[in-house]
Amino acid sequence: MKKEIIVAGIRASGKLHIGNYLGALKQFVELQNDPAKDCYFFIADLHGLTTPFEPSDLSKTILDVTAAYLAAGIDPDKCVFFPQSQVLEHAQLAWIFNCLLPLGELERMTQYKDKARQHKENINAGLLTYPALMAADILMYKGEAVPVGEDQVQHVELARVVARKFNNRFGKTFPEPKTFLREPLRIMSLADPDKKMSKTPHQSLRSGAGQAGDDGCIFLDDTPLEIHRKLKKAVTASESGKKSPGEENLMLLLAHFGKTDGIRHFTEAQNSGTLKYSELKQALAESISEYFTPFREKKKELLARPEYLARVLAQGAAKAAQIARETMLEVKEKIGLV
Ligand code: TYM
Repeated sequence: MKKEIIVAGIRASGKLHIGNYLGALKQFVELQNDPAKDCYFFIADLHGLTTPFEPSDLSKTILDVTAAYLAAGIDPDKCVFFPQSQVLEHAQLAWIFNCLLPLGELERMTQYKDKARQHKENINAGLLTYPALMAADILMYKGEAVPVGEDQVQHVELARVVARKFNNRFGKTFPEPKTFLREPLRIMSLADPDKKMSKTPHQSLRSGAGQAGDDGCIFLDDTPLEIHRKLKKAVTASESGKKSPGEENLMLLLAHFGKTDGIRHFTEAQNSGTLKYSELKQALAESISEYFTPFREKKKELLARPEYLARVLAQGAAKAAQIARETMLEVKEKIGLV
């Protein structure tokens, strides 16, 4: 039986947080363990160049994200795991897709509009054409399902548009990939629960709220002390009697990281109006700290072996490149580039 092809990546743009874990990484591990799936997971280091970065940090970030993938349970023997930049064909296919995509489709992307607002000093063309590269990442391996958080659904839809346009113009080549999303998942910032939890610290737009910085974000390798400190400060204020977005966010995190008893206890308290935020924050901090204990230990061990990490990436890239070369031969022939 033909396996379903799964493709997804995570940007190399900083430390991974619990939003990346729930929206992406946790699902990647489940999918690689499903014998009916054929999985390609990568580090989107080229996409990492679209937001400000320091060259001296970039290679460290790539190794850090590699260690995070492996510590979370990604097994390079069960999936093809590689850095996007080492498979040169991604950029080539992205260019071809750029020439198919109307500018208007790119300009209406929510992420582009948000990032252009956040990084006014650096509205580069890569920010705009980001979805063309994403479509290339997916369609290079003829991806059929793409596990992402809610914020990336619009980009996957654009990859469907690209596949359809290409197929209509040059003949059936690509499947139309769909989003793989068990539930619409958007983890919000602890410091500003109207905004999504995000790797790049954002400036809060709400007056008086100040800069959310890193305190809005629980990173996967935060120490229990940091997790407790950040949760203690989490914004939960609500208009009288109403559930606040901060409360909803903490309850969502509890549903994912808490134990059954704790989830029942706090859900009942919420329903009867007796929920104490300090108790919820304390219980949640304990659950998250405990959940990621093996992850923190494994990641530390892996980071002490940079040559091993580099080898894993190179081996993965060699496997991915074989498929990428085949796809590009087919694409070039269809377009008339040979
Ligand atoms: P990145 O690194 O910004 O996000 C990686 C994954 O984490 C999810 N995510 C979240 N999920 C829930 N709540 C949040 N607060 C949250 N923040 C991030 C994202 O939805 C994503 O699934 N463009 C992609 C990287 C990429 C890609 C691809 C993905 C490049 N090419 C091809 C799929 C297929 C991104 O957003 O990375």
